[in-house]
Amino acid sequence: MLHTIFVTGGSGFIGSSFVQHALKQGHQLQVLTRSEKTAEKLRALGTTPILGDMLQRGSWQAAAAEAQIVVHLAQPETYGARITRKRAEKFRQERLKMDANLFDALKPDAVRRIIYVGGTSYYGFQGEQLVGESAIPHPKGWGPYIAPAIETLNSYITRGWPIILAFPSWVYGPGSWFIEYTLDPLLQGKPIIKLTGSVKTISFVHVEDVARALLHLSDHGVIGERYFITDDQPRKRLEIGEIAAQVLGVPMKVLSLPLFLVKLAAGPVIADSLLTEAKLSNAHLKATGFTFDYPTLEQGVSDAIERWRSREVA
Ligand SMILES: NC(=O)c1ccc[n+]([C@@H]2O[C@H](COP(=O)([O-])OP(=O)(O)OC[C@H]3O[C@@H](n4cnc5c(N)ncnc54)[C@H](OP(=O)(O)O)[C@@H]3O)[C@@H](O)[C@H]2O)c1
Repeated sequence: MLHTIFVTGGSGFIGSSFVQHALKQGHQLQVLTRSEKTAEKLRALGTTPILGDMLQRGSWQAAAAEAQIVVHLAQPETYGARITRKRAEKFRQERLKMDANLFDALKPDAVRRIIYVGGTSYYGFQGEQLVGESAIPHPKGWGPYIAPAIETLNSYITRGWPIILAFPSWVYGPGSWFIEYTLDPLLQGKPIIKLTGSVKTISFVHVEDVARALLHLSDHGVIGERYFITDDQPRKRLEIGEIAAQVLGVPMKVLSLPLFLVKLAAGPVIADSLLTEAKLSNAHLKATGFTFDYPTLEQGVSDAIERWRSREVA
């Protein structure tokens, strides 16, 4: 079914893939951005850009109110440089403010679906068992800072708001942490940092599958439910680096650091995220009929690198 979709964060890492997929399927897209320059690029793609800052009330709210589907991907800045607790706390407050301004704009009986995108750092440490969305969250890394926003949604859902919660796991692709913590060090001959003694297993997903899954959930997701968006095979944390190194034809160097040094280098939030172990199941998402293009890292990493290379050239 074709819809008018209001997208927040449509210029970001996941959002740009989402916009491309949604346009390809023929949906009408209104994409929020704070930047005139980005607005021009979004217009050239065939979307209607909406200028606005979610930290402020404004005319963008009227556009949001008219959409049939809202896909909410915007978040305050996360990656880049050292993440201190002060920076993460600012993120927490801004995320809450942005969500509040969005929900203020919408009417629960006018919008068909709101796809709210969280992150599996909210579920955090889950140990060695394969778990589903009903697992008890133990937030890690960014998790404690997105938890208040996620938990606020329960009261909207009980009041009948048509919210579907999507939780992508570690999303790799031509942007975000995959470049900063994996490709850049590999290409610069620098080591990938690991925690001394830590061989934790985590869950990954290709950004293109995330984009397709969000679109799929806007038609097939059940209101009020949560969906992990994650591939078929949880893997040891460093395996993505090993596969990327093979694709790039470079050696992978690893620097094993104790927790206090990782905290000094990358900040306490990133250090905390390295303590996470989570094997997440995609059974709930698959039960809606979704199929993955990249079910394993072997199938996805070379494609992600190819996409990143073609963006660098463009
Ligand atoms: N990246 C991952 O690995 C990952 C994993 C799991 C879940 N997630 C979740 O997925 C969502 C998207 O993540 P991402 O990595 O794709 O995001 P991102 O690349 O960091 O992009 C952030 C987006 O938010 C917009 N934005 C920021 N502040 C804004 C404001 N005040 N008003 C309006 N728009 C604002 C930016 O738009 P402009 O700059 O154009 O205004 C940009 O499009 C987030 O909720 C994140 O928690 C991400």
